[in-house]
Amino acid sequence: MAEATGNKDAKDFGIGTPQDNQGYYLKGSAHLDWGVKDRLSRVFNPVSGKTVMLAFDHGYIMGPTRGLERMDLTITPLLPYADCLMCTRGALRQIVPPTLNKPISLRYSAGSTVLTELNDECVMDIEEAVRLNATMLAVMVAIGGAHEALTIRNLTKTIDQGNRYGLATLGVTAVGKALTRDARYLSMASRVCAENGAHVVKTYYCAEDFEQVTHACPVPIVIAGGKKLPELDALTMARNALDQGACGVDMGRNIFQADDPIAMIQAVRAVVHDGEQPDKALDLYETLKNAK
Ligand code: R5P
Repeated sequence: MAEATGNKDAKDFGIGTPQDNQGYYLKGSAHLDWGVKDRLSRVFNPVSGKTVMLAFDHGYIMGPTRGLERMDLTITPLLPYADCLMCTRGALRQIVPPTLNKPISLRYSAGSTVLTELNDECVMDIEEAVRLNATMLAVMVAIGGAHEALTIRNLTKTIDQGNRYGLATLGVTAVGKALTRDARYLSMASRVCAENGAHVVKTYYCAEDFEQVTHACPVPIVIAGGKKLPELDALTMARNALDQGACGVDMGRNIFQADDPIAMIQAVRAVVHDGEQPDKALDLYETLKNAK
């Protein structure tokens, strides 16, 4: 019980000093609740405002694709270099040490594989995501595809569930076979995710007018890497995307399918967090690769 007598009188009220309102550094996120902001601050570096997410969730639709045959051998060594891990709950439990303590963007929607028509999906149970200490829930959204309405319902359901517990939602824009990856399509798909409440959007980079995609999306955008490119091209794509308003990458194949994945993820980090130019980042890649 507190003492009734002998306490020091309160006197430091800071009269004349306005209270710091503590603005928040991520766009479109100023009015989120504390728990979501705390989680997003683990994904996006509060100093650079950027993130290098390592995506290795491909197996849920592609099986053991190149580089993911033995994730314990190929992915586990990369984990310390990533700011955030994008994976399925299977991979999380199988190859990610809980002692690593990295934020997890959990693959939260699941359904059809590349052998059938993609994006016919359901979503997981929010209690499972909380149990796994997920930071962000990643949901596929197939705008213009055969399962558009279903995937938007999945996004909505995920955001409602995540908001209940303060988890962020990542809207992942899928690209249908019949749709082009141009600025018009990508800005629409990204905007639909944000308008429905996604806290972060993952989309593809496009060579023309990508600025329109980032500027029309009121929440942070991270870019997927897509199919494996020569290292310089992948680093150039990341540089261009950042320069045009992306807040980071959520990159998979261009890292884990590189000749030297550990060198590549460090080169990507140099582009994203240090503002490095692609040629200098490639030099870093070659130096790290040749040092082994
Ligand atoms: C695709 O289904 C997954 O969401 C991947 O995480 C995404 O495509 C990013 O990986 P990549 O850089 O290999 O495209």
